[in-house]
Amino acid sequence: MSDSALRVRGLRKQYPKVLAVGGVDLEVPRGEVFGLLGPNGAGKTTTLEMIEGITEKDAGEIEILGLTWERSAREIRASIGVQLQATSLYNKITPREALTLYGSYYPRSRPAEELLDLVQLTEKADAFHITLSGGQQQRLALAMALVNDPELVFLDEPTTGLDPQARRSLWEVVRGMKREGRTIILTTHYMDEAEALCDRLAIMDHGRVLTTGTPAALIQELAVPSVVELTFDGAAPDPGGFAGLIGTGVEARGELWEIPTRDPKSALGGILEAAERGAVPFTQVHIRRATLEDVFLHRTGRSLRD
Ligand SMILES: Nc1ncnc2c1ncn2[C@@H]1O[C@H](COP(=O)(O)OP(=O)(O)O)[C@@H](O)[C@H]1O
Ligand SMILES: [Mg+2]
Repeated sequence: MSDSALRVRGLRKQYPKVLAVGGVDLEVPRGEVFGLLGPNGAGKTTTLEMIEGITEKDAGEIEILGLTWERSAREIRASIGVQLQATSLYNKITPREALTLYGSYYPRSRPAEELLDLVQLTEKADAFHITLSGGQQQRLALAMALVNDPELVFLDEPTTGLDPQARRSLWEVVRGMKREGRTIILTTHYMDEAEALCDRLAIMDHGRVLTTGTPAALIQELAVPSVVELTFDGAAPDPGGFAGLIGTGVEARGELWEIPTRDPKSALGGILEAAERGAVPFTQVHIRRATLEDVFLHRTGRSLRD
């Protein structure tokens, strides 16, 4: 048996106007929650759909649980779970009916009650799909991905569009899947989600993997593990020559200036002094640890949030 849940080499997809995936390598051990993190258009969905056998690849090798689509499509299909877009369900189907129907497509399926319990939808088992909240619909989509008791589960942006509470309850479901011993491969453009859920990540941009590692290792690799933030009342002014005064970079974003620094304790004095001399009208100062957002910014010069 292969130790890897997934092994991908040189995966590539060219659309007429865009190279969606330009040579991606991935290796995911069994039992891991692995994330593809990147902004819209990075190529996450295309990568996932080629792996899932939904989109045809132009080039590259894919090995799923030690099997290839070319030789073992049936076996792969039986061992993977793919989250469907919940919105594609008929309005008047109930969660119980959807899970029973979907389960009937597989030779072996988990009982609807068990799945409803797992995603905390027991109380909504017999409610029309259209009456479920966004979070409940997403949880149903996750339950449907588990109907064949898959070893490997693919989730594409599982929490996009959900409110913070619904996102957190979905994270709990994903953690539950991991505790059951499954491998989970998910995509997200939320760095907090990637940090909270993923054992390891690949950060993607423009169809390529920029870097792979644990969230902590990716942050530690940054030469500047801390950020001093000056907060303004309203939009932050252009930093102009301020960077020259303190000898490090300054980024204005929203109501903040962000000043990455290796050693915030010794940098802080100089920053505050320069701000005073330049009559910089900041209202608060914070020091925070670098995040995956900073890793992305450092690698691409752009923000994940843009
Ligand atoms: N079916 C398609 N035809 C043409 N271009 C596509 C198609 N699907 C995706 N793309 C393009 O490929 C790039 C990657 O898209 P996608 O994989 O959906 O990124 P992500 O999921 O990271 O947002 C984008 O530029 C997108 O516009
Ligand atoms: Mg996508």
